[in-house]
Amino acid sequence: EKPAVEPTNEKRRKLEPYTDDAQGKKMTTNTGLFINDDQNSLKAGERGPSLLEDFILREKITHFDHERIPERVVHARGSGAHGVFKVYKPMAEYTKAQFLNDTEIETPVFVRFSTVAGSRGSTDLARDVRGFAVRFYTQEGNFDLVGNNMPVFFIQDAIKFPDLIHAVKPEPDNEIPQAASAHDTFWDYISLTPESAHMIMWVMSDRAIPRSYRMMEGFGVHTFRFVNAQGVASFVKFHWKPLLGVHSVAWDEAQNISGKDPDFHRRDLWDAIESGNFPEWELGVQIVPEEDEFKFDFDLLDATKIIPEELVPVQRIGKLTLNRNPDNFFAETEQIAFHLGHIVPGIDFTNDPLLQGRLFSYTDTQLLRLGGPNFQQLPINKPVVPVYNNQRDGFSRQNIDSGKTNYSPNSLGNNYPEQVRAEQGGYTTYPERVEGYKIRTRSKSFLDHFSQARLFFNSQSDPEKNHLVEALCFELGKVKTVAVRERMLGILSLIDKGLAAQVAVALGLHVPHPPEQPVNKNVPADGALENYEPVN
Ligand code: HEM
Repeated sequence: EKPAVEPTNEKRRKLEPYTDDAQGKKMTTNTGLFINDDQNSLKAGERGPSLLEDFILREKITHFDHERIPERVVHARGSGAHGVFKVYKPMAEYTKAQFLNDTEIETPVFVRFSTVAGSRGSTDLARDVRGFAVRFYTQEGNFDLVGNNMPVFFIQDAIKFPDLIHAVKPEPDNEIPQAASAHDTFWDYISLTPESAHMIMWVMSDRAIPRSYRMMEGFGVHTFRFVNAQGVASFVKFHWKPLLGVHSVAWDEAQNISGKDPDFHRRDLWDAIESGNFPEWELGVQIVPEEDEFKFDFDLLDATKIIPEELVPVQRIGKLTLNRNPDNFFAETEQIAFHLGHIVPGIDFTNDPLLQGRLFSYTDTQLLRLGGPNFQQLPINKPVVPVYNNQRDGFSRQNIDSGKTNYSPNSLGNNYPEQVRAEQGGYTTYPERVEGYKIRTRSKSFLDHFSQARLFFNSQSDPEKNHLVEALCFELGKVKTVAVRERMLGILSLIDKGLAAQVAVALGLHVPHPPEQPVNKNVPADGALENYEPVN
């Protein structure tokens, strides 16, 4: 059934009651009392002490004292925008998701771009991964595609994420450096984590210094699942292809711009939208039938691997247009709470251990960052469809949930149909068959850490290769501990001997021969490096 109201307008209309323009209005306290002076406190005598009684002073200062919330533990610096998504052709063969089938529907979206390592006030031009998080306000609930501008990740298992982030963030003793990976703890960790080799090639490439958010690709990174109305599933990787093409700046340009305008990317996005120059991306999918799961020489569940586009082409299936700046940075860009677990029928997860851990982490952190269990009621998080369940109470509940009952089953009040059968609709998890022993390990199919790193390096043009070498020289040149530099040269030599040699010369070091075996206690004894000869 078609929505009664055109959905783009629907989200806008839903946000309107919360969007208040104070222009020309009389000032009041938070209880609505009209006041005529919020500039002078109440005093005992003209030069006397301020009085505790002064509720106007107390309210104003108390609110101010509580205005900051924790910044995101990662991706703290971001810029957001509203827009719309439209699918080109029905995707019913693969997914029953309504917003990927109905070509008439314009699904409202909110997108937040971000850097990863820096704090909220850090520069846009850092050499870093960029977040590319998209919220679709669909008629079946919110769907979030929480991706990055690089198609792979540093680690294969979410349990390592706190270590990775501790290593990349400013060092714990002196909080140096801000928003940069050029320091000992980061490279120490990377040199001991061979599975990050592929990602490091991307992060040292020009992709890590985009010209504009409008000129970045986006990737869902993990392999997800599409499920069609017949219950048939296929694997899917999501891509965003910018219609302006992919462009980067050179490192010296990045440093220059960063000094002059650390808000360069934020300003560029804002100005483009204000001037009606709406940024656009096409949504791409790589689809792999379930029965082809084991046809690749890498594991589809391993987030350090891409599916080369030569093997599975990217089909472009729809278009995203960003067409409206937020009214309020805090209420929208800061309070939006993305999560991979926000899915709709027709889309499901896989057993990628990075994905599985993320499914826990986002809501957990948002319970703290947004102050308790009711953050889905914040205007930017509210779906465009109604929400009914038995969840009540908690800090800052916005609903007056009426009725006597907040439990099921009940015979006294609000009753949901007791048991909706799957044929009647509603989300059902794809019934993937699983079996096995409970073991804390990594699949051997995850242990090739260098082939795709090498593939990426070899795919670069000569100028791009030079940039990559220069980036490594700059970054490792900031590392004080020689053993860390040497260990990194060992890793680089497993990717490409020539690359390692060029970096070694710049650093005044020799490539260790044979390369020092990276120590990674999480890799089983018959682990990664044994299968790999150094490249000659
Ligand atoms: C935030 C992407 C891995 C935990 C984000 C954001 C993006 C993102 C885009 C910013 C969302 C926003 O703009 O509000 C990714 C990608 C990953 C990845 C593409 C790997 C494929 C992980 C892992 C964990 C994690 C493994 C934890 C186990 C977090 C947390 C936040 C975050 C806690 C902050 C969320 C908030 O405060 O709202 N991630 N991430 N991420 N990510 Fe990830």
